[in-house]
Amino acid sequence: MTLILSKSDVMKLLDMKDCIGAVEKAFSEMSNGTAILPLRTVIKPEGGLSLYMPAYLRQSGALACKVVTVYKDNPSKFGLPTTIGKVLLQSPETGDVTCIMDGGFLTAVRTGAASGVATRYLARNEKNMTAGVFGAGVQAKMQLWAMNEVRDLKRAFVYDISSEAMEKFISEMTVKLKMEVRKAASPEEILDCDIICTATSSAVPLFDGSKLREGTHINGIGSHTPNARELDSETIKRSLLVGDSLEACINEAGDIMIPLSENDITKEHFYAELGDIVSGKKPGRTNERQITLFKSNGLAIQDAATAQIVYLKAVETGIGTRVEI
Ligand SMILES: NC(=O)c1ccc[n+]([C@@H]2O[C@H](COP(=O)([O-])OP(=O)(O)OC[C@H]3O[C@@H](n4cnc5c(N)ncnc54)[C@H](O)[C@@H]3O)[C@@H](O)[C@H]2O)c1
Repeated sequence: MTLILSKSDVMKLLDMKDCIGAVEKAFSEMSNGTAILPLRTVIKPEGGLSLYMPAYLRQSGALACKVVTVYKDNPSKFGLPTTIGKVLLQSPETGDVTCIMDGGFLTAVRTGAASGVATRYLARNEKNMTAGVFGAGVQAKMQLWAMNEVRDLKRAFVYDISSEAMEKFISEMTVKLKMEVRKAASPEEILDCDIICTATSSAVPLFDGSKLREGTHINGIGSHTPNARELDSETIKRSLLVGDSLEACINEAGDIMIPLSENDITKEHFYAELGDIVSGKKPGRTNERQITLFKSNGLAIQDAATAQIVYLKAVETGIGTRVEI
C-alpha cells in the first residue's frame, strides 16, 4: 500500500524545528560521503519546465525524488499554481514507493530549514537580535520562522515592493511567531538588522552591499538562474561565502556567477559548503565582525530528509490515505 499525503496532511505533520534537525543531518551526510545527489534533470515540454530531483541519504535511509513543474500560464489557463511539486518516497530496502506527498509546503519549509542550519553556524549569537527579510511571499515567511527557531529574535522587519504582501506577512507572522514584525520603510532599513534574508523574485540586486554592517549574516535564497541575482558583487566580495553546493553555486546562481564572470571574485572566494561546516571540517563564523553569507540553491537531499520525517510522523499518527496502486 502507498500512503498519499495531501498539502493539508503535510502542513499538520511538518514542523520547522524537526525539519532543521533533519536537514542539518542531511548536509552532514553530504559532507561525509553518505549522500547520493545526482544533478537535477530538466525537461522542457511546450508549456513550461519539468524538473526531477532525486537523492538518497544512506545513514538516514531516505530515498526520494521530487518532481517540480513551473508553468507560467497555469493560473490564467487552468486555474492552477505556476509551481507544482510532489515528492515520491521509496523504501531503500525494497525500492517500492511507500509514500507520495504534496511538495509545495515541504519545499518552503525545507528551504527555510537550510537557512536555519546556516544561521545556527554562521550568525552571531546574542540576546534580542533583529531579523530583516526582503520579500513577503511564501518562502520569506518560512525564512523568518527558521531564523526564529535558531536565534533569540526580539523584532523582525520586512520589505517588499507589494504593500499588500507586506501587510499579509505582518499579520500572519506576528500571530505565528508571537513576535513584533514591522514594515521597513526602505531597503536600507533592513540592512540595520543582525540577520538578513533575501527571498524575492527579483532578478536585480536588492541593496548596495557597501552599506552592509559588519557582523551581519545573510541567507540568500531567491535567485537561482545564471542571469538573475538578488545580491550585488560588493556583498559577495565582503562576505565569507558558504553555499549549499559549490557545483550549484557556480553553475546555477547568478549571485555568484555574475561576480565570477566579471572577475570581481575568483572561485577561491568560495569558502565552504554548508555540510563541511556542519560536519566540523571547517569552522563557521570566527569573529564578530565578519559578514557571513549562505547562498541557497535548494538541494534534493533537503527534500528527501524532510519527506522522510513527514512520512514517519504520518505512520505514527495515522494521518493520510493508503491506496493500492
Ligand atoms: N533556494 C531555494 O531552495 C528555493 C526554494 C524555493 C523557491 N526559491 C525562490 O525563492 C523566491 C521567492 O519564492 P516565493 O515562492 O516566496 O515567491 P512569491 O512570489 O510568493 O514571493 C516573492 C516576493 O518577492 C517580492 N519582490 C519582487 N521583487 C522585489 C524587490 N525588488 N524588492 C522586494 N520584494 C520584491 C514580490 O513582490 C513577492 O511578494 C523565488 O525566486 C523562488 O524561485 C528558492
